[in-house]
Amino acid sequence: MKILVTGGLGFIGSHTVVELQKEGFDVVVIDDLSNSSVDVLEGIEAITGKKPEFEQIDLREKQAVKDFFKKYADVTGIIHFAASKAVGESVENPLLYYENNIGSLVYLLQELQKKAESYFIFSSSCTVYGQAEKMPITEEAPIQAAMSPYGNTKQIGEEIIRDVAKVSGINSILLRYFNPVGADPSANIGELPLGVPLNLVPFITQTAIGIREQLSVFGNDYPTPDGTCVRDYIHVVDLAKAHVTALQRLIGKNNLEKVEVFNLGTGKGNSVIEVINAFERVTGQKLNYKIVGRRAGDVIEAYADTTKANNVLGWKAELSLDDALASAWKWERKVRGK
Ligand code: UD1
Repeated sequence: MKILVTGGLGFIGSHTVVELQKEGFDVVVIDDLSNSSVDVLEGIEAITGKKPEFEQIDLREKQAVKDFFKKYADVTGIIHFAASKAVGESVENPLLYYENNIGSLVYLLQELQKKAESYFIFSSSCTVYGQAEKMPITEEAPIQAAMSPYGNTKQIGEEIIRDVAKVSGINSILLRYFNPVGADPSANIGELPLGVPLNLVPFITQTAIGIREQLSVFGNDYPTPDGTCVRDYIHVVDLAKAHVTALQRLIGKNNLEKVEVFNLGTGKGNSVIEVINAFERVTGQKLNYKIVGRRAGDVIEAYADTTKANNVLGWKAELSLDDALASAWKWERKVRGK
């Protein structure tokens, strides 16, 4: 059986391809290279000794998706990462997000549902919970109205999959990620944001290496212990392994429902200041930062209840925030040749 990883040259996708290949899966990657580089294939090969098959396809092109499934008739499992993910951009250009994130999903499922039995893992986000009332956040926490078109595409995506699963042989797992950070410990692959990073950890590493002058901490007047927002930062290698575990669960027919949902986090919340302090301690780098006003749309705190992922999926985050920050820093230095 061959596994299709869409967005397989992106940050989480590339780490998942590595973990799939380590477990002996045969992988074909689709990526449109809109936010990734073809060089990532070499990084994957350096770690696993094997380059996955690769097709440069824009999944908004329905015919290209059909042609892909003709060529790769043995694909019965898909891990679907390919999507746009910048919250602000989605507010500016909602139709880009609906076309790219929803159109692509529909075309993939149209092909997959032609098979008697198939497996589909979906990249969802803790953003579906909005500002949850209770911490830690369980899978039963109510879904809140999306705060952006990006967030809405994750909610709609989940609904589409539920509807299709009812009338097809598609078995699916929706994985709701908290905040993925870090890089493969080899530093052969990592996060490569285009332009100015929007996420915290790439902004930290780019500031420390000298590309950005100063990190802005968005608000220190939140109702949290030190006033900065709290998130659940999960090492991308742990996150990648969860995808392999989820796929094996579906293939082994161990899933209890046609569509299952798991939160993927560490269960521990860290504030922005704690992340900065940990980065300075782990790397020995002093970080230039200042406190500025709040960023619109930020929730105060979000961290996962990992009970279901631990007990039902049988997966647990093993790496620490320190591990993640050390690996992100090693990767940043490698990319910049320093
Ligand atoms: C963000 C998105 C989320 C999306 C995820 C994808 C928002 C509101 N949320 O999550 O929907 O699924 O990215 O990667 O955009 N911070 C700073 N300075 C910075 C950058 C971030 O202080 O320069 C703070 C933020 O205020 C936040 C924390 O760091 O408290 C984490 O921010 P970020 O990495 O952007 O992740 P989220 O906002 O949690």
